[in-house]
Amino acid sequence: MIASEPPPRRTRRAVVFGAAGFIGAHLCRWLLNAGVEVTAVDNLSRQGAESRWAALAVHPEPPWRLRGDVRDFAFVRAAVEGQTEIYHLAAQVAVTRSLADPRADFEVNALGTFNVLEAARLSGLRPFVLVTSTNKVYGDLAGHPHRPVSEAQCLDFHSPYGCSKGAADQYTLDYARVYGLPAVVFRMSCIYGPGQLGSEDQGWVAHFAAQALAGQPIHIYGDGEQQRDLLYIDDLMAAMRLAWSRRQAAAGQAFNIGGGEANRRSLRQVVAALERRYGRPIELRPGPRRQGDQAFYCSDCTRFQALTGWRPRISADAGLERLCTWLEARDREARLAQRQRAA
Ligand SMILES: NC(=O)c1ccc[n+]([C@@H]2O[C@H](COP(=O)([O-])OP(=O)(O)OC[C@H]3O[C@@H](n4cnc5c(N)ncnc54)[C@H](O)[C@@H]3O)[C@@H](O)[C@H]2O)c1
Repeated sequence: MIASEPPPRRTRRAVVFGAAGFIGAHLCRWLLNAGVEVTAVDNLSRQGAESRWAALAVHPEPPWRLRGDVRDFAFVRAAVEGQTEIYHLAAQVAVTRSLADPRADFEVNALGTFNVLEAARLSGLRPFVLVTSTNKVYGDLAGHPHRPVSEAQCLDFHSPYGCSKGAADQYTLDYARVYGLPAVVFRMSCIYGPGQLGSEDQGWVAHFAAQALAGQPIHIYGDGEQQRDLLYIDDLMAAMRLAWSRRQAAAGQAFNIGGGEANRRSLRQVVAALERRYGRPIELRPGPRRQGDQAFYCSDCTRFQALTGWRPRISADAGLERLCTWLEARDREARLAQRQRAA
């Protein structure tokens, strides 16, 4: 047998940390479809990660998959070696869990991001780095007028999750400033779409939709009038692509990324939309307002729009339909598999 030459490396080589997550799995497919060589990294700690991980392997041009942890610097350094792009999405993602275990939250989010930035700096290739931050870095915005929030808003880390993500956010901007790393921060609002397995702790739109489909009650913490701007996953993918293509100008900046005013909905409005879709009332179970929960958050995306021309294309109504359609198909497949096993 004659051993074949390994394929030549491509000009665009990306590592995605958190590749088996909701957003990371979409991003991997998106990059692969754009012809980018992809290294997918995840520790598979999150619910749903195993199945997304397996699904990545059946892509026509699958990524190189590395199971590992962002807290392990030697591992992160090896994964970053030779990469031209780094997308850091791996995180402890829930405020609730950060309150229960603030040390673990700090180690994954703050130290994990520091490891990624250090590995990028030491790689010597000045790779493009995109770090996913959150609207939670602006605190609970108590007393703030109900209008879209720009990046000029004062930072006010609230909750261990707010602190760890906020530290990651600020480290990223400083690595761009001090070391000239072309790094950008996306302060994201509520991202949703197919592939998302939400829970009470995180991913509330997908969680509500799954509960509605199953005819199960929904716990509402606070009065349910909290408002968020919803951004459909494909629109986020477009924003990430534009951040890369405008990386020189974008470097060193944080951008608020969300659905904006047109896609702002209250929790109760999303429940009402689901009741209309499934033609039945949904039982709501009240719970106390949660720490740091913003009564109102809507992204002012002007800074990113001015740089790239980006704007969300998928309305919250259309996006919710797509999410429900995906959940219904998944449900049908699960029932079919169950029947086949029983037969
Ligand atoms: N989904 C949203 O609405 C939203 C909003 C704001 C910010 N974000 C941020 O976007 C990023 C991705 O979010 P998502 O919704 O895809 O979350 P997700 O939980 O689906 O994905 C996170 C992934 O990171 C992995 N992970 C966790 N700890 C790890 C570790 N120590 N080492 C390696 N991998 C680890 C998990 O297994 C999971 O696959 C996160 O940084 C999150 O904070 C998400």
